[in-house]
Amino acid sequence: EWTPAAFVQETVSRIKAQVGDKKVVMALSGGVDSTVAAELIHKAIGGNLYCVFVDNGLLRKNEFETVLDSYKHMGLNVKGVNAKDLFYGQLSGVKDPEEKRKIIGRLFIEVFQQESAELKDIAFLGQGTIYPDVIESVSVNGPSATIKSHHNVGGLPEKMKMGLVEPLRFLFKDEVRRVGKEIGISDIFLARHPFPGPGLAIRILGDITPEKVTMLQEADAVWIDNLKESGLYNQVWQAGTILLPVQSVGVMGDERTYEFTVALRAVTSTDGMTADWAHLPYEFLAKVSNDIINKVKGINRVVYDISSKPPATIEWE
Ligand code: XMP
Repeated sequence: EWTPAAFVQETVSRIKAQVGDKKVVMALSGGVDSTVAAELIHKAIGGNLYCVFVDNGLLRKNEFETVLDSYKHMGLNVKGVNAKDLFYGQLSGVKDPEEKRKIIGRLFIEVFQQESAELKDIAFLGQGTIYPDVIESVSVNGPSATIKSHHNVGGLPEKMKMGLVEPLRFLFKDEVRRVGKEIGISDIFLARHPFPGPGLAIRILGDITPEKVTMLQEADAVWIDNLKESGLYNQVWQAGTILLPVQSVGVMGDERTYEFTVALRAVTSTDGMTADWAHLPYEFLAKVSNDIINKVKGINRVVYDISSKPPATIEWE
């Protein structure tokens, strides 16, 4: 019978045997998988694990600072890299969703390689790959059809020539959470909703500007804070906001406004492959709508996405 305790013990000794006294470099994303993987590797080899956490400017409000801080508290040897301007610069004027994903994936690898190159004698690359990533990257990137290219699986160039350390490769998400709990990882990470690697870039339909990112971060923070305060956060699989490339007329005091629309998305699911829109209370949605329109400058309309997957996807891009 599989138990988290036995898995941890076995995995830590396997990593020790694999890595010995060599060094491992690893990118952290703030998500459950990379965090649990890093902590397992850290348990095995301590300070020989070097972590890199990149701010691509497309994370949630205050996410980079908060998460970096938590990593440091966990004792991880982590370097935070501010690469916002690089990402904003390269994404400027880009509207196509797949193009956005490709640019973000490429820049991420560039930044990560640059950081790794500054470290001497790195022999291994650590990754938080879990079993569904392995399956999905086969089917998503297979010959049949590219639905959405997930940039954070595999994809590191040949020339990095490093061995792979992937402690979670055969685990499902709920097992990863149980392992995380076993090794004392904070609920900040364990109870967190999934968040796509390309971040807010694929929740800003059309072209991305730093101003739009800020607007969406504010709206998203109101949405997520309300979900948490009302105890609904843990009842949904994933939630987020989408900034639509649409301006519409509104009225504020006795002024006519012409501003953006935000769509709220919340879904229930067990694996993200299929999903139902979350049937949240009207009163709750009304409060969120008011809060967003009152607090976030540039938004005068809020809509709720009532589409399920399939045929809609969870993300809008
Ligand atoms: P969709 O939109 O395909 O999303 O229903 C299913 C799950 O995958 C996440 N997602 C991504 N994750 N890189 C990621 O790491 C991506 O490019 C990407 N696209 C979608 C999405 O947030 C949801 O949890």
